[in-house]
Amino acid sequence: MISELQKEILRLKEETGTVILAHSYQAPEILEIADHKGDSFALSVAAKDLRCDRVILCGVRFMADTVKMLSPEKTVLLPIAQATCPMAEQISPERVLEYKKSHPNAVVVAYVNTTTELKAVCDVCVTSSSALKIVEQLDAPEILFIPDQNLGSYIKKQLPHKNIVLWDGYCPVHNSVTEEDCIRAKQQYPGMKILMHPELPAQVLEYGDVIGSTAAIIRYAMEHDEDCIIGTEKSISDYLSLMRPGRRYPLLSKRLMCPDMRLTTLLDVYKALTGQGGEEIQIPEDLRLKAKRSVDEMIRMG
Ligand code: 13P
Ligand code: SF4
Repeated sequence: MISELQKEILRLKEETGTVILAHSYQAPEILEIADHKGDSFALSVAAKDLRCDRVILCGVRFMADTVKMLSPEKTVLLPIAQATCPMAEQISPERVLEYKKSHPNAVVVAYVNTTTELKAVCDVCVTSSSALKIVEQLDAPEILFIPDQNLGSYIKKQLPHKNIVLWDGYCPVHNSVTEEDCIRAKQQYPGMKILMHPELPAQVLEYGDVIGSTAAIIRYAMEHDEDCIIGTEKSISDYLSLMRPGRRYPLLSKRLMCPDMRLTTLLDVYKALTGQGGEEIQIPEDLRLKAKRSVDEMIRMG
């Protein structure tokens, strides 16, 4: 049932011409009041065509930065300034520029979980749901895929004819899952399929029955009348359990909780809406234009 705070947020949203975007990892009470919810690719696409003056992004910083990149004329707010993705900070733009000097023909592919500064020195961005389609289209002697070595190795395995070079980045949450977690889950829930996000380590993905982005995982679970083990952030298991009360969606590992994605509460959204909190995203124009090229490429090719 919709709460008083949710009703007030919905009213203020209308009154102030604000659109709320929420990543699927957000709490159910935030997803309920969002205008658009989905994985990072769906949010990037939605951001491009928004008709509003103000956007509140419930998720982590790189997602709010992407909205601002695509809609510079809008006020873009991140309710909690500390909500960042640790993977986004793992590789410096200087390291990429150095690599490009010695590998001038390499195409640099950046997972969208990266800083604006890093996007500015890359050629094309990808998300977990668009990576395969985009990398498949790249005609280059060498493809440097950063920062996520796990998503990168999953793509590399499917495109063995491409020369894909990986670096050492990873999501600390997904990368914490082990083979032992898979063996234990299979023993505890015999016969259940394991749905996995490609940010999980390669040896763990071997145990997966379905591998896909958060949106693909939700889609599979909603379209199949069966219990499934969830190999991505806990919020997806909670969301599915809420949507399909008769079904079970146990989590593959209890470590699958992203502290940053969990920082934003409904009250924080209210505070951002009423000017009592949140951070307004600012990107210098020259940096924005450089970084936007790789996001535009992602939307065009994805
Ligand atoms: P999606 O691309 O599936 O939305 O994933 C984003 C993310 O941060 C997963 O940890
Ligand atoms: Fe970043 Fe991992 Fe959290 Fe996703 S789950 S936001 S990749 S730290």
